[in-house]
Amino acid sequence: MSSLTFSLNDGNSIPWLGFGTGTALYSKDAAAAVKSAIETGVTHLDGAQLYRNEESLGDGVKQSGIAREKVFITTKLAETPDGAIKSTLETSLKKLGVDYVDLFLIHSPAVAMKEGKLKQWWKEMEQIKKEGLAKSIGVSNFTVEHLQIVLEDATVVPAVNQIELHPYVWDTASQIYSFCREKGIVVESYGALTPIFRAAGGPLDPVLVSASERLSKESGISVSSGQVLFKWLIQKGVVVVTTSSKVSRIKEALSTASLPDLTSDEIVAIETEGSKLHKSALMYYVKQVQEHKE
Ligand SMILES: NC(=O)c1ccc[n+]([C@@H]2O[C@H](COP(=O)([O-])OP(=O)(O)OC[C@H]3O[C@@H](n4cnc5c(N)ncnc54)[C@H](OP(=O)(O)O)[C@@H]3O)[C@@H](O)[C@H]2O)c1
Repeated sequence: MSSLTFSLNDGNSIPWLGFGTGTALYSKDAAAAVKSAIETGVTHLDGAQLYRNEESLGDGVKQSGIAREKVFITTKLAETPDGAIKSTLETSLKKLGVDYVDLFLIHSPAVAMKEGKLKQWWKEMEQIKKEGLAKSIGVSNFTVEHLQIVLEDATVVPAVNQIELHPYVWDTASQIYSFCREKGIVVESYGALTPIFRAAGGPLDPVLVSASERLSKESGISVSSGQVLFKWLIQKGVVVVTTSSKVSRIKEALSTASLPDLTSDEIVAIETEGSKLHKSALMYYVKQVQEHKE
């Protein structure tokens, strides 16, 4: 099992690999998948109110028998909260069967922005951290502009910003990444496998093949293109949130942390070739904002 963690700006730490219960498990019973991920060595579970399966995430944790303090559990505020933010989290805690979450995120800035409530939402998040219902608080799908609004009045800097991050959005997401690094906000990536899962056959393929061949030779074990994508993120200090229905792929993902590093030439090649194609599954609005400015 991988014990690599990243430090958060509030003194807590976060395991580098999170197992997601959205996308493939959206609205489905995630208990068996979560239990199996934990048994394989995963210690970080990524959930959300919107995924409509927090109960089963909690069930999976319970069924695995792992101690509460050994797992890092994230949930996220629904896009349109049903009542006060704190009461929605209390409902989540009940569903998850825990007294606190390790990380609570504003899932999306869209509704709060439209209603002019982004700063007010963040104040409520800060209170939640103060009361210990969430050890750390953060945001998701925030652009630089959204972060700047929150930071104007924040007394707690968001610990993380979970965004779509892979080489095929690097042309625009790199600005969010750089801003977060500057402010001490850890970036979490979702959609990391897009170049092999949703956009195979793109300009990055030869780079992924040559880097995985080089790493396979050097490590003496078979290294996949997916691991090259994860390794690129690890070396950028980015937490990876992924998912898989296959134990072998979860094992493979976990083992990425102990692989030899990518060279700086390989990293440049990933970012250069990645920037030749823009393929966004969810944060497409970042590109639209960017084009509007140019
Ligand atoms: N904050 C947000 O707005 C947001 C948005 C999206 C996602 N997320 C979080 O991030 C998690 C992961 O998101 P994601 O699904 O987009 O992650 P991803 O890592 O890009 O994709 C995971 C998918 O890739 C497939 N896969 C794995 N290895 C593969 C390979 N070698 N070749 C082809 N396919 C492969 C897996 O299918 P198999 O089952 O076949 O392995 C799995 O369904 C979600 O569950 C959720 O928790 C958050």
